[in-house]
Amino acid sequence: MTEQLAINGGPKAKTTPNPAMYPGGLEIGEEERKQLMEVIDRKYLFRYYGPEKHPSKVREFEVKFREKVGSKYALATTSCTGALISALVACGVGPGHEVIVSGYTFFASCAAIVGAKAIPVIAEVDETLTMDPADVEKKITKCTKALVIVHMRGVPADMDRLMAIAKKHNLMVIEDVAQAMGGTYKGKYLGTIGHCGCYSFQYHKIITAGEGGMLVTNDSKLYDRAMGYHDTAACWRPDRFAEERYEGELFCGTNYRMSELTGAVMLAQFGKLDRLLSLMRRNQKKIIGGIKNTKGIKIRPVYDPEGDVAVCLMFYLDKKDKVQRFAEALQAEGVAASGVFNAGIPDWHIYAHWKHVIEKKAPTQEGCPWTCPYHTCDDVEYSADMNPNTLEYLSRVIHLDIPAQYTEEDCDMIVKAINKVAAVLA
Ligand SMILES: Cc1ncc(COP(=O)(O)O)c(C=O)c1O
Repeated sequence: MTEQLAINGGPKAKTTPNPAMYPGGLEIGEEERKQLMEVIDRKYLFRYYGPEKHPSKVREFEVKFREKVGSKYALATTSCTGALISALVACGVGPGHEVIVSGYTFFASCAAIVGAKAIPVIAEVDETLTMDPADVEKKITKCTKALVIVHMRGVPADMDRLMAIAKKHNLMVIEDVAQAMGGTYKGKYLGTIGHCGCYSFQYHKIITAGEGGMLVTNDSKLYDRAMGYHDTAACWRPDRFAEERYEGELFCGTNYRMSELTGAVMLAQFGKLDRLLSLMRRNQKKIIGGIKNTKGIKIRPVYDPEGDVAVCLMFYLDKKDKVQRFAEALQAEGVAASGVFNAGIPDWHIYAHWKHVIEKKAPTQEGCPWTCPYHTCDDVEYSADMNPNTLEYLSRVIHLDIPAQYTEEDCDMIVKAINKVAAVLA
């Protein structure tokens, strides 16, 4: 017999609280305090100097980071947006270029392209909710210079196909790993497969200092150029006032340097990454194990399930009009679930709501980058319904965060709730 749903007055399947989705944020404690107090006690808040000389926390974090992910270079920044813009500039992206990005990502992945003075072209996602290689191929023009590939909601994109397309068309590849720190694809850390990888330590991310970012690359020239751009004019490169060693090394930049305060907190948080990942993966595995054969739902496919960082669980219903009631029924059961796309509800993660891009809003009247005379291809046009597959997938999907702080008992209750609701509403 099917149990009465909580939404219809039955008992709740999940009776425990739902921790907020701040995996690293909720673990901030003694280790962060100790690291931070060292910086304060030494009055050494700037990476390159202070009243006395001390080893830089930011530098130590960069070294640990690159050793872990297996990249030659790592550059700490103030945010992932700063890392993305620096990576695009390092890759030679600028006026006249088009850069393809997927239509399901935080707006920053797209805004960074405009920040680098190029024109974003928005591609479809496939059923994994990452960039659809077939649509990318259709959208390449002679102005396309790069791809920004987003490992969205913790899972790897189809890197084999996307890298093959990039190679064929001579495109630079920037991986946006903001939501998938520690994830892998076929054994390689995400962010180390393309030319550059960019990470975020904003508060909602797996490990955090409130704000912060990292850029990795294996290419020394890309590193030099990203380093220079993120540091006003390569102000702090090793031989600061030396002449340009090769053409393209030195140019005017901005300031995305990470502070020692952020570096200190990130050193402590970085030490917690593997534990957080293993807890989220344990939780996700337990929930998936309990619902994988449930009638009426289809779990989001993943190109390399081993590499999923398991920040969430996403599953499809067969019809979009079932989603709202299904999500409300799960909420009534005590599970913090939601639908993803609803045209009436703004969400910065879905291209249809990126008004500033759709309306080509530029900070000045001239309208660059869209009106840039160096752009010699057809005008790039946008509309809210231009990527129908993306909207179709997102309007049929249910999303649940998977906090590292869930217990196995929490996961059992979530399984019970999903099965209970699916038996009636799927
Ligand atoms: C996929 C993605 N890319 C980029 C960013 C931007 O990160 P930041 O806030 O560190 O600039 C975010 C942040 O939410 C994100 O989710």
